[in-house]
Amino acid sequence: MRFAIRGYVAVFVATLAAQAAAQDMSKIINTPHNLATLDVWGVVIPQNRVCLPCHTPHNARSVENGEFQVIWNHAITDQTFEMYTTMAGNQGGQPEGSSKLCLSCHDGATAIDDFGGNDEFFTNVVIDEDRPSNLGTDLRDDHPIGIEYPPPDLTGYNDKSSFTAVKVVSVNGLDRVECASCHTVHDNTLGMFLRQTMEESALCLECHDK
Ligand code: HEC
Ligand code: HEC
Ligand code: HEC
Ligand code: HEC
Repeated sequence: MRFAIRGYVAVFVATLAAQAAAQDMSKIINTPHNLATLDVWGVVIPQNRVCLPCHTPHNARSVENGEFQVIWNHAITDQTFEMYTTMAGNQGGQPEGSSKLCLSCHDGATAIDDFGGNDEFFTNVVIDEDRPSNLGTDLRDDHPIGIEYPPPDLTGYNDKSSFTAVKVVSVNGLDRVECASCHTVHDNTLGMFLRQTMEESALCLECHDK
């Protein structure tokens, strides 16, 4: 009897260790981008497959016009967005590429649990309107995206060769500022999935020479 209990405890401890090892391996698993970790959404992910709401190895969804990108598994936003206009009169077009992927949850209209293989648990839950992470469809109150870098004919922007953490995203052959310029969707080490610290506004100063 005692042996049996000890055996059970040993197996239990080994299981815990295996789980801890799996979590150590993953940057994303204990972040808000593991949709199952946030009890508020009630999202169920089979086997805690953290990648599944966004990626699938097979039968991915076309992101735009039959084109595929990062083997995407989530529903794509069908909203029309209002875009910020800068003082120089520059304005991004409708979100494209990876920014469109972010807005396929952060628009507050597309269900976060609308992903391939989730028919059984689908409850059509969107990011609540009162949460700051719900950007909505009016992006006129957000830092511009879909905008060229460096902006043509403007001074006050650092050469991209000096970037240490932020990045330009190439869309239609142009270097642009997109959500992924400032954010890194899988890594929450700095908080807010940021690429660079906000200490002394370091993130901003990588681009803006102010
Ligand atoms: C909440 C959604 C989300 C989850 C969850 C997620 N990803 Fe991603 N992933 C994205 C988006 C959006 C992009 C494209 C934007 C970018 O690269 O910044 C991407 C890009 C990628 C890429 C290509 C670009 C790169 O960064 O290398 C790989 C590989 C990738 N993901 C792997 C994974 C794996 C493996 C997991 C699970 C451990 C995972 N992702 C979980 C949203 C997600
Ligand atoms: C599959 C849905 C989904 C996709 C795709 C997605 N997110 Fe999120 N994201 C969420 C949810 C859900 C939260 C938690 C929101 C909350 O707690 O209010 C979140 C939280 C965040 C946060 C706040 C983190 C924090 O610590 O509070 C940031 C920043 C963020 N996401 C950026 C992005 C960016 C940038 C992309 C694209 C590269 C992206 N997300 C793609 C669902 C998604
Ligand atoms: C120029 C840099 C930059 C760009 C581009 C950018 N963000 Fe952010 N974002 C930030 C910073 C900085 C914060 C943290 C603000 C804070 O801590 O108050 C943030 C915060 C967020 C949050 C969390 C809001 C909250 O307060 O909980 C979400 C969600 C988010 N961003 C999504 C996006 C999405 C989606 C895009 C593209 C449509 C995007 N961001 C484009 C810099 C950027
Ligand atoms: C990846 C580069 C990049 C980063 C990082 C970045 N910006 Fe920008 N920012 C730009 C570009 C490009 C524009 C658009 C300029 C244009 O085309 O007129 C812009 C526009 C702006 C504008 C509006 C200017 C106008 O004419 O209306 C402000 C203000 C601003 N950024 C502040 C910030 C702040 C604050 C941060 C940090 C939270 C930040 N930016 C981070 C590249 C960046």
